[in-house]
Amino acid sequence: DEAIRLSDMAHQMGTKAQDLIKALFGMGVMATINQSLDIDTASLLASEFGYEVENVSFDELEFLAPSEVDKEEDLKSRPPVVTIMGHVDHGKTSLLDAIRLSNVTDGEAGGITQHIGAYHVQTARGEIVFLDTPGHEAFTTMRMRGAQVTDIVILVVAADDGVMEQTREAISHSKAAGVPIVVAVNKIDKEGANPDNVKRELAEQGLVPEDWGGDTIFAHVSAKQKTGLDELLEMVLLQAEVLELKANPDKPGRGHIVEARLDKGRGPVGTMLITEGTINQGDSFVSGVHFGKVRAMFDDQGKKLKSAGPAMPVEIQGFDGLPEAGDELFVVEEEKVARRIAQSRAMKQREKILSSKSKVTLESFLASK
Ligand code: GTP
Ligand code: MG
Repeated sequence: DEAIRLSDMAHQMGTKAQDLIKALFGMGVMATINQSLDIDTASLLASEFGYEVENVSFDELEFLAPSEVDKEEDLKSRPPVVTIMGHVDHGKTSLLDAIRLSNVTDGEAGGITQHIGAYHVQTARGEIVFLDTPGHEAFTTMRMRGAQVTDIVILVVAADDGVMEQTREAISHSKAAGVPIVVAVNKIDKEGANPDNVKRELAEQGLVPEDWGGDTIFAHVSAKQKTGLDELLEMVLLQAEVLELKANPDKPGRGHIVEARLDKGRGPVGTMLITEGTINQGDSFVSGVHFGKVRAMFDDQGKKLKSAGPAMPVEIQGFDGLPEAGDELFVVEEEKVARRIAQSRAMKQREKILSSKSKVTLESFLASK
């Protein structure tokens, strides 16, 4: 079987053997410098120091490896995923309502968005998948997640309020994720609306409008009066065209959980955005430390689906526990494989927690000496 000498491992990792011995002690393993470590102990130890170990003899790695490169002819164009971001109350949900001709805002408690909404919209110019994010300062993680799973960000800035705290935050999340920003200057119908002021403030943040010699697209809209929407959508779809978004639909599906909740009647429900492949009813899957079988799948209108492909937001039932937003979900061939991967992950997670606990014990032990 594969094994590695502790001293060799320390050398490869550029750490002191003594530090490895200490960490092992914290994990409840007594070791000496000449000791051979089995691959499991070595991986666990390495992960303590922030390393990933390759060639671990466990099939999980096959699935976690970046999915094989698709052949050009297998790639089909897919709709863009567009995330709407901006400061609280600047009109993100209203704008999306106006585009979708719906009324989500009316049903929100206190008019505050508290979750990520995912919608597939057939516009006159083409399909777009929208993610609505909350602007309230408490929801930074959701905004970060939104920026990470998207192709384009629509940054909504109210013309009567200008650049605010969460406007700047949204810009930095988008930049960190390398996502292009299209600016929607909203509420231009309002008295006191000052779109030029918004332009100036955004230029200071590095978003220089095209008519000022920069390369940021600005659209003036009013979600309330439903004006400027066509132009905005056109800009977004033009931007999407440049990105040449494609995915292979003909393989097992995978994607990211954007929302998860425990439904009284239906149990754990996860909303996921499919990034590639196709998910079918009955598929077995892994997500984080959980596994499951797609018992039922719905689109954003609550319509039941048998299968769904790239860029589609779907709601899935059939998890063995509550999945975690932000986690990846991927389909595996057999339920028992799904179960094994999930269990192994859960075990590793427990070991990590236990070892960090015993480490504290070791430190307090040393400190007490
Ligand atoms: P959070 O999700 O909580 O961050 O808010 P939001 O950005 O989604 O704002 P929301 O769409 O809930 O709108 C906030 C308020 O602004 C509501 O009272 C809307 O009616 C109003 N509003 C939104 N768009 C416009 C607009 O174009 N013109 C005017 N006059 N009011 C608007
Ligand atoms: Mg909202």
